Amino acid sequence: MATSTTYTTKQWILASKPSGAPVLSGPDATFKLQNVVIPPLKEGQILCKVLYFSNDTGLRNFIQSRVAPERFYVPTVPVGSPMRSGIIAEVLESASPTYKPGDLVMDFHLGTWSELVTLDAANSQPLSPLPNNLPLTHYLGAFGASGLAAYSGLVYAGGAKAGDTIVISAAAGATGSMAVQIAVQLLGAKKVIGIAGSDEKCAWVRDHLGAHECINYKSSTFLEDLKAVTPDEVDVYFDNVGGDVLDAMLTRVKRHGTIAVCGHVSGYNSDEAMGLKNWFEIVSSRITIRGFIMLDYLDKAPAILQELIGAAADGRIKLQDGETVVEARIEEQPEIWMRLFSGGNQGKLLTKLIV
Ligand SMILES: NC(=O)c1ccc[n+]([C@@H]2O[C@H](COP(=O)([O-])OP(=O)(O)OC[C@H]3O[C@@H](n4cnc5c(N)ncnc54)[C@H](OP(=O)(O)O)[C@@H]3O)[C@@H](O)[C@H]2O)c1
Repeated sequence: MATSTTYTTKQWILASKPSGAPVLSGPDATFKLQNVVIPPLKEGQILCKVLYFSNDTGLRNFIQSRVAPERFYVPTVPVGSPMRSGIIAEVLESASPTYKPGDLVMDFHLGTWSELVTLDAANSQPLSPLPNNLPLTHYLGAFGASGLAAYSGLVYAGGAKAGDTIVISAAAGATGSMAVQIAVQLLGAKKVIGIAGSDEKCAWVRDHLGAHECINYKSSTFLEDLKAVTPDEVDVYFDNVGGDVLDAMLTRVKRHGTIAVCGHVSGYNSDEAMGLKNWFEIVSSRITIRGFIMLDYLDKAPAILQELIGAAADGRIKLQDGETVVEARIEEQPEIWMRLFSGGNQGKLLTKLIV
């Protein structure tokens, strides 16, 4: 079906693969903004106006990583292609019986950094209202990839259970803030310890999210603080960051304990090798290290989301202050996304697109 109007959109494409941190301006800029004409809709497609971009650290690996594209867990973004993103959008025109203009949809990783986007209706999800008038943006965070990664990483990859001592890094971020609450409220962990990058974030992780302890990995006393809060050692470490924090955690995981590896934020913008001084701890303490992708557990996603939404409805999981929403024009999107790598978010970082 042809659209009745010819639409053009501003769209960020990947201009060059960065070595180290993405470059935001100048001749080596990682992204380039262009104007494109949107082709007529094909059967089963919908044309949408983007309302929100989901900002995810993992996108950094979509554009360049040490994993060869054929071994990567989803299709990567080739140079010259639109930058991908999770989005919430409003349908403008529809060539699908499932959607009509005005409907709200989300696509959690096949949207693009564009003002207008064409989606396959079959890959998009309609958005239903959330309890207690919670904002629908939580479908991109707490009730999207972040919540699913937190739950499946703790329960399935980490084998976490009631009575465990659990440590979670990037604890004030989108995934970490959900992991802390799931561990405390849904799993009944004995002790949950967050690790975050400022004293203010640690106070939020303790006082608002309910962690028993939270320590600042940027503090000069981090190693002593970590030892002090883990006198009985740790059953499960939920690792969002890798690097020096992982190295320190190798010395605190119990014999036969588990490290669930969710991500490696500290290495995404670095070409340096990750140096682990404590690697032999894995042998000495028979530690299991298990990487996971939440996509592995999509068959369990409806039940997980029902549990998470139920826990938010009855107040066990708190989502107030769990989002950092930045209103911005499309031109600002790369810079806003990059704030994740300097800790410029509490909870989920979202861009509310203004035109
Ligand atoms: N496996 C999966 O299926 C899956 C799914 C979703 C996300 N993830 C992973 O989950 C992790 C969190 O991602 P997210 O998108 O939810 O982001 P996020 O936690 O909301 O934001 C990233 C946070 O990482 C911290 N950080 C940034 N640079 C760091 C560094 N060099 N060292 C240590 N911490 C650093 C910052 O917090 P501080 O201020 O505390 O430093 C920042 O707020 C990532 O590793 C991501 O790849 C995995």
